[in-house]
Amino acid sequence: MNRPIKIAPSILAADFANLGQEVRDVTSAGADWIHLDVMDGHFVPNISYGADVIKAVRPCSDAIFDCHLMIAPCDPFLEAFAKAGCDIITVHAEAGPHLHRSLQAIRALGKKAGVSLNPATPESVIEYVLDEVDLVLVMSVNPGFGGQKFIPAVLEKAKNIKAMIGDRPIDLEIDGGINEKTASQAAAAGINAFVAGSAIFSGGSQDAYRQRITAIRSAAQKAQGK
Ligand code: DX5
Ligand code: ZN
Repeated sequence: MNRPIKIAPSILAADFANLGQEVRDVTSAGADWIHLDVMDGHFVPNISYGADVIKAVRPCSDAIFDCHLMIAPCDPFLEAFAKAGCDIITVHAEAGPHLHRSLQAIRALGKKAGVSLNPATPESVIEYVLDEVDLVLVMSVNPGFGGQKFIPAVLEKAKNIKAMIGDRPIDLEIDGGINEKTASQAAAAGINAFVAGSAIFSGGSQDAYRQRITAIRSAAQKAQGK
């Protein structure tokens, strides 16, 4: 049984000088989730934005705020992201020695807990935390930058994770290099939530955002049906 398809535009690719309007536009264009990429210049080789920016754009959308923390350590900052209005908070399995504790801390804050895996990280690292998570995020690029090329080797990993999840109510999300073609491949591998930054925001207008969100959704639906 497939979970509902969710399209999650990453505002990393939005116009930062116009961020509130970009969040409004992409929400009106049909985004299910707003994907928020937080980078610290330490866990990943780039710095993006933090909890204050998320808090500032929170009133611009009723969509689920899907926060992807690419920071280490993460535990000291979880509360700030919860208070900023994130609904799902995802941490990287590689970001610290106490993944189980981080996931428990997110749920204790009343938020959905996600775990993300870099392309080189095997699925076995999440075997013993599956009952602590609401979402698994498979990275299909090395995190740190938008606009990179999709790494096809992660499709097999997604399939394996889908099998590990079984009947649990866990969303399986993919992030990096997602467009109509790669979304279709990912959906066939069991992915139901699709992050897309450049593929959506390079459109530059609300009409283009709507057209691109719809195209990714249709491609995924078609592949899920197969
Ligand atoms: C990469 C981020 C992604 C990124 C995706 O570190 O986690 O969410 O914004 O960007 P695209 O869709 O351009 O590959
Ligand atoms: Zn992301």
